[in-house]
Parts: sequence; C-alpha cells; structure tokens
Amino acid sequence: MSGDIAAILGLLRQDHKNLTWLLALMAQEAERLGQAGASDFDCLRDIMHYLDVYPDAVHHPTEDCLLGELRSVRPDLATGLKGLLPEHRRISELGHKIRNELASIQVEAGVRREILVADLEDYVATLTKHIEWEDQNLFPCFEVLVNVASPSAAQRIMHVVDPLFGSQPSATYSRLLHHLQFAYGR
Ligand SMILES: [Fe+2]
Ligand SMILES: [Fe+2]
Repeated sequence: MSGDIAAILGLLRQDHKNLTWLLALMAQEAERLGQAGASDFDCLRDIMHYLDVYPDAVHHPTEDCLLGELRSVRPDLATGLKGLLPEHRRISELGHKIRNELASIQVEAGVRREILVADLEDYVATLTKHIEWEDQNLFPCFEVLVNVASPSAAQRIMHVVDPLFGSQPSATYSRLLHHLQFAYGR
C-alpha cells in the first residue's frame, strides 16, 4: 500500500517535469504573439486543451486528495498548505479565460492580442511558481503519507493515463507532440 503512495508521488513529480516543457513552449508562443509575429494559435489551443483535461482534471485533484489525507493523519503539517486549493482554482480559472480568448480569436470576435499575451504570461508565471512551491514545500510533506495513508482515493483519480506524455499519446495531441519534439526533442 505504502509503495502506491510513493508511485503516485513519482507520477506527480514527472508531471511537473512535463509541464515545465509545455510552459516553455507556451512562453515561446506568447512572446511571438507579443511581437506581432505569426503565433501558432492551434498550438496554444492544444496546450490549453491538455491543461484542462489532465493537469486541472487529474494532477491537481490528486494533490488536493493527498492534502486531505495529510490533514487527517498529520494536521500539524497541513496547516501551512492552506493555499493549495485556492491556487488550483485560480490556475483553472485563468486557463478557462485563456481558452475563451482563443475561441474568440478563432471566430474573430476581437480579443485584443495584448490581453491574451498578458494572460498567457500570467499563466506561465503562476504555474511555474506553483510547481516550484509544490516541489519544495508540498511534496516533502506528502512523503510522510508513504507509510501511514491509504492510497485508494488518490489512486482512483491518478489512474487516468496522461494523454500527452503517457506511453500511448492520444491522436488529439499529435500536432502538439510534433511541436515538443521539434522544439525540445521531447
Ligand atoms: Fe498543484
Ligand atoms: Fe503539481
């Protein structure tokens, strides 16, 4: 049982590495857009779609679930981690806003480029900081769960296979995978 929590933590850490690649690509597209260059909106749409269906739907809920476990077995450690859920909510809301802006651009509904660029930059900075904070402050606390907690609830969420970086990527992301391979050899 304890090994399962360790495996979940391993997956969460790997997700962070994968997200770092994706955020670098997103930052690159935002920069191109800010310089009024030919930005690849399809690439941005694919990235934002993935962030909705895996990090927001699987990765963050798994962390929320582990925090719930931590609260019940080591409430003393959980008190300093209250910001986790609101931050996940903020990341999800910002992603939703960007998806709407990208959809508006698609139908030429007049979203200003500067707004989209600012939101993309905000998203990259927010998620980058969030990942660093979790690596340094959250995951070390989760390590104590390895020997004391039941992995069942977190496992139910985390069993979903990553549709982009997993062993069998979805065809939905073939264009995005091509971008990542081209840019970073991923
Ligand atoms: Fe998180
Ligand atoms: Fe995370």
